[in-house]
Amino acid sequence: MATLAIIGAQWGDEGKGKITDYLAEGADAVVRFQGGNNAGHTIVVGDEVFKLHLLPSGILRKGKLAVIGNGVVIDVNELIKEMDTLKAAGRSLDGLRISDRAHIIMAYHKKLDGAEEKYRGDRPVGTTGRGIGPSYQDKVARIGFRMGDILDPDAVERVAKVTVPYKKDLLGMFGAEPCQCTLDGVRERFASWGKALGEHVCDTSVLVNDILDGGGKVLFEGAQGAMLDVDHGTYPFVTSSSTVGGGICSGSGVAPNRIGKVIGCLKAYTTRVGEGPFVSEIHGPEGLELQRRGGEFGTTTGRGRRCGWLDLVVAEHSQRLCGFTSWALMKLDVLNDYETVRVCVAYDIDGEEVTHFPSSISKLERAEPIYVDLPGWEGWDDSEAVAAEGYKALPKNLRAYVKFIEKRTGIPADIVSIGPKRSETIDRRGDWWS
Ligand code: GDP
Ligand code: IMO
Ligand code: MG
Repeated sequence: MATLAIIGAQWGDEGKGKITDYLAEGADAVVRFQGGNNAGHTIVVGDEVFKLHLLPSGILRKGKLAVIGNGVVIDVNELIKEMDTLKAAGRSLDGLRISDRAHIIMAYHKKLDGAEEKYRGDRPVGTTGRGIGPSYQDKVARIGFRMGDILDPDAVERVAKVTVPYKKDLLGMFGAEPCQCTLDGVRERFASWGKALGEHVCDTSVLVNDILDGGGKVLFEGAQGAMLDVDHGTYPFVTSSSTVGGGICSGSGVAPNRIGKVIGCLKAYTTRVGEGPFVSEIHGPEGLELQRRGGEFGTTTGRGRRCGWLDLVVAEHSQRLCGFTSWALMKLDVLNDYETVRVCVAYDIDGEEVTHFPSSISKLERAEPIYVDLPGWEGWDDSEAVAAEGYKALPKNLRAYVKFIEKRTGIPADIVSIGPKRSETIDRRGDWWS
């Protein structure tokens, strides 16, 4: 099968960007299919560090197409800024293609994101404030602007006539900062976006399917993680898109029978940004110590990520939803030098042992983690040298930890990552496109 997908198995920030960049070498196109610039994907190439929010991670590989699919919501000004940063770093954007069906995040969406959070009072979601939720709301309400509109003044006119007065009223109702939008202003903005980005806009479903029909290879890059999925995540502490396997199809216009291998990107421990239940969270100084060791600070907002032990109840939930065929097991080096590493294998909820992730937030808040403790391992000096030697060079107890995860989940850890660089990746499979 000529497609590969990478999906976060936890609450995001598992290292999807690193693995996408690594596997993009063998692909013809890399496709983002959901989310927006709430994502922050860090990629280390030699001495350079790239933090991508909207551009697919394949953009860093020469000669590849980097596709922003219809399921993504786009803050056009932020996209242009990100493109400029990459151009300044000497990277080409010739391969960028943007779906004409992708929705646009407008300034009022960002204002509404903040206003909705205020309404939630002492139970905010802790959004990234990027206007993601309000933009997806408009898509479903059928009043959103789409990327194709930057080349279609009639469409802008049609949408703006309904949406601009509606948003003004809505912001007024929220008592939020008023919307400065005028019909003329919107017309001008779309025309200028058309000039800046028009050549990149096309029907990306046709493009991607044509690549596959011609025997090409397509890599799908998920954003966020399965536990932030709007249907299956820790609702309402989720994002507003389909982050699970099914999201690939609706968000890129590729049929389910074309999806081949699905790699679950699984951090060797767990992190979460923002609010919401987190059963295996480590509270207090020990949690902060793991945060320090792992450099767990948000790529997008700079917020400290909450940290905890690996949770296999979460892994079971996400693998069922996404159909993972391999794990990419990330950041194992961060667990170096712990005397004991803990793995949550079930929850105790009101005296009952639970192994399926519950939908009820109050149940999750009462859940106590049930751990299996495994012996830790000593760290090493040079991760590149260890990775070059291969999997067997890793400490015995680390390999036992990996084996434990493989056995409990029934999924092979085909990629093991021990550092942020491309060269700190142990690929136990290699034949990804066969
Ligand atoms: P993403 O959102 O899933 O792409 O992940 P982020 O980029 O937000 O966060 C992952 C962070 O861990 C980034 O800073 C990566 O450079 C870094 N990283 C990725 N893999 C590894 C690894 O195996 N070890 C260590 N120490 N860092 C890693
Ligand atoms: P990547 O792709 C981690 C979280 C936010 C918040 C919730 C809703 O880098 O893994 P939103 O702004 O989407 O409405 O916020 O989702 N969130 C992420 N957490 N990694 C991400 O992306 C995230 N994108 C959104 O912190 O809790
Ligand atoms: Mg991230």
